[in-house]
Amino acid sequence: MAFKRALIFLGPPGAGKGTQAKRVAKQCGIPHLSTGDMFREAVSRGTELGRQVRPIMERGELVPDELVMQMVEERLSWPDCQGGFVFDGFPRTLPQAERLNGSLRARGFGDPKVVDFAVPHEKLMRRLTGRWTCSVGGEIYNIYDAPPKVPGICDRDGGKLVQRADDRPEVVRERLAAYDRQTRPLVDYYRQRGVLGSVDASGGIEEVSRALDRILQCAKGADVRL
Ligand code: AP5
Repeated sequence: MAFKRALIFLGPPGAGKGTQAKRVAKQCGIPHLSTGDMFREAVSRGTELGRQVRPIMERGELVPDELVMQMVEERLSWPDCQGGFVFDGFPRTLPQAERLNGSLRARGFGDPKVVDFAVPHEKLMRRLTGRWTCSVGGEIYNIYDAPPKVPGICDRDGGKLVQRADDRPEVVRERLAAYDRQTRPLVDYYRQRGVLGSVDASGGIEEVSRALDRILQCAKGADVRL
């Protein structure tokens, strides 16, 4: 069967959505769509969108739904999205989820398959303040749990590792509060629609990968089931 599936990775900041989404996207041959990465790229390129979202992201608040949806709709129109994709960090509000449903239907997709990454908040501060990301290829490291071989340098492409501006403890606190306020209700929303799977994402990266693979049964060329 042709692979045509929308996957959504849901979970608080630092739950490991990006780490696992990169791997699953590669394994399944589908694009990894991180709205956070898209906004950070707009900020670094200094576009009009980047100028609008920069102060919002620096405060750890959510970008208004309208700006998010415009960007996502545009990205979904790219040819590489025709066969499926994995969303990381989107949707994040009920209006985003409702609008995504309409957009998926219009593009011939069924219900999305959603995985909730469950991690207690106390583990997240360490993960986020220890995160370093490759400025070239986006590879994610953690100085405590997944360090690069040479400090500050990406193992894969030799790129310089950088820290995100919103990983400062005071901003992380606001991001976690925004998650509880605006995004956590999506867990029940998708559970009630019967499309939610959940992984205990508090273990190590390999352990979470194995749990996720059991849920997705994802292999190259294969269908993804929940
Ligand atoms: P975004 O970039 O989406 O950030 P986030 O959701 O806060 O998630 P993170 O990227 O911080 O965490 P992650 O779960 O991907 O964890 P990672 O794999 O990197 O959003 C940033 C901002 O953009 C938002 O605050 C908002 O302003 C805006 N925005 C984006 N999308 C939006 C939307 N839809 N609506 C409105 N606004 C939006 O892992 C974290 C660290 O932990 C890494 O160092 C990693 O190595 C380590 N790690 C990962 N897994 C494990 C593990 N199992 N054990 C130990 N360490 C681990």
